[in-house]
Amino acid sequence: MEEGRVFPKGFLWGAATAAHQVEGDNRASDWWAAEEAGLLPHRSGDACRHRELYERDFDLARSFGHNAHRLSLEWSRLEPEPGRFEDRWFDHYARVLDALRLRGLEPVVTLQHFTLPRWLASRGGWLARDAVERFADYAGEVARRLGRAVRWWITVNEPSVLAKQGYVTGEWPPFRRGRWDLASRVIARMAAAHRIAHARLHAALPAPMVSFAHSTPWIEPCDPSRRLDRLAARLRRAFLVDLSFALVRRGGRPLIDYVAINYYTRTVVRWAPRGKALLFGVECREPHHGGPRRFDDLGQEVWPEALLHVLRDAARFALPVLITENGIATSDERLREEHLRGHLAALARAIEEGVDLRGYLYWSLMDNFEWAEGTTVRFGLAETDFATQERRPRRTMRLLAEVARTGRLPSETLPVEV
Ligand code: GAL
Repeated sequence: MEEGRVFPKGFLWGAATAAHQVEGDNRASDWWAAEEAGLLPHRSGDACRHRELYERDFDLARSFGHNAHRLSLEWSRLEPEPGRFEDRWFDHYARVLDALRLRGLEPVVTLQHFTLPRWLASRGGWLARDAVERFADYAGEVARRLGRAVRWWITVNEPSVLAKQGYVTGEWPPFRRGRWDLASRVIARMAAAHRIAHARLHAALPAPMVSFAHSTPWIEPCDPSRRLDRLAARLRRAFLVDLSFALVRRGGRPLIDYVAINYYTRTVVRWAPRGKALLFGVECREPHHGGPRRFDDLGQEVWPEALLHVLRDAARFALPVLITENGIATSDERLREEHLRGHLAALARAIEEGVDLRGYLYWSLMDNFEWAEGTTVRFGLAETDFATQERRPRRTMRLLAEVARTGRLPSETLPVEV
């Protein structure tokens, strides 16, 4: 490798998006229905109007050095009624994938990113008796009609987050609270859906790379000498991180072709049996954990070192690794830049240690519809003006472009020492 280069040639650089958050007018989905019914605080409406502006958005990505892009297909558009596939939307996504290829952007395609078709939601969503079979048929249809244009696949996005938000905190559809039992079943169903989709994609295509995108917070006990803090951290980790990896196993190994990591934060957990506790733990935000500690606008701690821990942990599978999301909710551009520098340094260190890291996809290309927070938080490399749908590249976008071009860390970035 040439002198000073830390990221190999061919490394995938890009951003990630999800259909409901950017496309707009996502009427046949469960989220749209919940928004319309006033069950959510915000409406997605036109979002970023990406369903019409995708070419312009991909031009932007290309001009800032991206060579990859993660997007999701909207199941509720492609299959608006059970078993009826919509040619119009298959044609649309075929054009979207062409537009990526034309610009030299490697597509990373998610089959399901949080939203479900309304018809499935009304039968119980992931808990519906035939949910897994339905997903398998949908995945098969996508493979048949769009598969040739795609090598990198993500079957489902963040089972543990969807399960927690929809069945434990109750903030997202279907708004159930405290139902750990159902949440675990949702994760199991999504894992089964992943396994079947993995098989369908492999049956239909020559050498697809198939995984599920896993939310991997780094979880630490507040006081490591306290047994109950350690237990709270272990329980949370078991549910949020380990369970999904365990359930996608077949024959002792996870049925994935690469590890897809969505990493945002570290959480420090203190034992608390009652009240707002999530699995007997509350998050400690005190400054005594290697402080000063910084939190983003969603209250998530910015802690790049933990990405290195997560990558070391992912290395146990001896598979390629792709960062499929990493980013920060902030309107402080200095903090966003610092966040990126820190996380790039963690990636560099992981590569040095031998982790087979293939790429880094930033969340997100532009500010978009952030689920229950709507457009109140800003994750974009580019700012979105939601009135005019203009995109304004932020400084961080230039920084990432520079790193993608040179394959080196930006000069002021100090190496991560852990
Ligand atoms: C992830 C999710 C994305 C995005 C991001 C930022 O959990 O997959 O859709 O919302 O968080 O919060």
